[in-house]
Amino acid sequence: MDIRRLTDRLGGLAYGGDYNPEQWDDEVWKEDDQLMRRARVNLATVGVFSWALLEPEEGRYDFGWLDAHLDRLHTNGVAVDLATPTASPPPWFTLAHPDALPVRPDGARLTHGSRDTYCLTAPAYRRAARRIATALAERYGDHPALALWHVHNEYVTLCPCDHTAAAFRVWLRARHGSLDALNEAWGTAFWSQHYTSWEQILPPRATQWHHNPGQTLDFSRFWSDETLAAYREQRDAIRAHSDRPVTTNLMVPSYQNLDLWAFGREVDLVSIDHYPGAPGVDAAAQAAFDADRARSFAGGCPWLLMEQGTNTVYTGDRVLAKEPGDILRHSLAHIARGSEGALFFQWRQSRAGAEQWHSAMVPHAGPDSRTFREVTATGEAVARLGELAGSTARAGVAVLHDSDAWWAMGADGLPSAELDYFAALRRAHRALWDAGRTVDFAHPAHDLSRYELVLAPALFLLTDAGAENLRRYVADGGTLLVQHFSGVVDERLHSRLGGYPAAPLREALGIRVEEYRPLRRDERITLSDGSTATSWSESLRTEGAEALAAYTHGMLTGSPALTRHAFGSGHGWYLSTRLDDAGYAALVQRLLTEAGAAPELPGLPPGVEAVTRHAPDGRAWHVLINHLSEPVPLPRPGHDLLTDGPLIELSPGGCAVLRAR
Ligand code: GAL
Repeated sequence: MDIRRLTDRLGGLAYGGDYNPEQWDDEVWKEDDQLMRRARVNLATVGVFSWALLEPEEGRYDFGWLDAHLDRLHTNGVAVDLATPTASPPPWFTLAHPDALPVRPDGARLTHGSRDTYCLTAPAYRRAARRIATALAERYGDHPALALWHVHNEYVTLCPCDHTAAAFRVWLRARHGSLDALNEAWGTAFWSQHYTSWEQILPPRATQWHHNPGQTLDFSRFWSDETLAAYREQRDAIRAHSDRPVTTNLMVPSYQNLDLWAFGREVDLVSIDHYPGAPGVDAAAQAAFDADRARSFAGGCPWLLMEQGTNTVYTGDRVLAKEPGDILRHSLAHIARGSEGALFFQWRQSRAGAEQWHSAMVPHAGPDSRTFREVTATGEAVARLGELAGSTARAGVAVLHDSDAWWAMGADGLPSAELDYFAALRRAHRALWDAGRTVDFAHPAHDLSRYELVLAPALFLLTDAGAENLRRYVADGGTLLVQHFSGVVDERLHSRLGGYPAAPLREALGIRVEEYRPLRRDERITLSDGSTATSWSESLRTEGAEALAAYTHGMLTGSPALTRHAFGSGHGWYLSTRLDDAGYAALVQRLLTEAGAAPELPGLPPGVEAVTRHAPDGRAWHVLINHLSEPVPLPRPGHDLLTDGPLIELSPGGCAVLRAR
């Protein structure tokens, strides 16, 4: 990770956002310069949607206007995060290359007039993307304003067109080696799906009933690999002409189209976009969830919050405004967890066009506005946190996060529509967040030995190596909670035979699951310890574990629901149903206590977020955010960097950054 080069260049943490000056004129640019200085902006992302202006016709470039903006920003002390504009090809491109327009699963071809109107696998698109990336790198590779390269914007599209079909077949040959192996992996002996030539294989498109789950899982893997290849091509084209770090702003949404562990290995620094989907304390929990994912994909290194909504909370059918103070609180929630700054979408709210109602640092009302005053105050706060650069958060607990398991759980035909990978992951994180712990996400094959507690909330797919790694983690002293419907299938989606979960994990948990018994919608059951549960139940027997709670209904009456197994020097816990919120929170609290996973700054009440950033040289800072509407005395008074003064109490909704060491 190359984040130090960015913060050294900026002289501290990054502050700013997407800057689209091509929407404005000279008078506004002059005001931009002045307002950016006022808000302490030091980094602007330029060019994300500029393809049509940069290359008005194929192969003819117009860089003059961008030269002027880069020079102006540089003179004004603002460094540039220069984007390649490939997320929004111009109309001339799609008219010249209609085969590069994306196709829907039902076969309808989309048109231009929006953005992201391209198919990643179309050779014409890939050539055009490499060409514009190369042209930009040749021209600006060592421009003094340039601090960072920003490839593309949020790789999110999917397309099952004929170009994709051809590329998918190449990928499948490499993965499976032979048609026999593919047929075996996908279980095509059933439903007469047997393939006798590669050309018969298609990406998942609209079909009569269930898709083959092996086909959809492999397609998800393929699409992620293909997207990564497209990123790499641009990155390498840039690296040929520039030594500045390269990133792409990743979405960490509630669906998954990319294996972000793989992206984390290929970018010079991880950057993400975060848009909360709920107001209030839920927004804070979501920020923590995304920020912890970003740091984890960055291998624990510092990373960068590339975009956040300045004053918007997207709640489905309406866009809410943030509450006063949220701009600072949300920014600090990310910085606390290792972000080397806080950037927004976008600098100035568009007067016209597709994103006119998306908020910005300078709203339509102009600088005389609550939003801009908060943006300025947040900029001043971030400017005082320069000493945090290069430090990052550490966690003593982890939630397992596996892209394959997520995709696999999205397959058609599972036993309950309530099996939701993302919801399970969020719930585990939320319970730990509510309990005041900093959380890492980890892959089941990672070295887990540094964690006191590991939660596996939805590990439907688990490889033999992953199961063995979890067994070893428990044997070596770890505490592991595995939740229902985990360890069910291998990497080919083939069911584990002879009892679930996968054998080495069964050994660590001391149980054997014989039968899954999903509950009826809205059915609520009570366990023998008084806790209540919904959604799911399992028929299991202990093989060494002790039963901590049992079912009290129907044929499962008396059979274990929650178990704990002393194995090696650790403990393997298994929860075979979906506990209600209070029961789940109590279980997580009990696990934290038994595993000895203490908060880094004890003594704070629930509702006060405290995360510690550690520097390699031993210095550390507590970042505190009070979500309560009352003042909270600090367990240990300290020097607050935000006010540069002593602090004994956090005000309602207040924040502080204290030197811990
Ligand atoms: C982001 C996107 C930006 C802008 C923003 C609006 O997801 O990267 O380009 O569209 O949403 O809130």
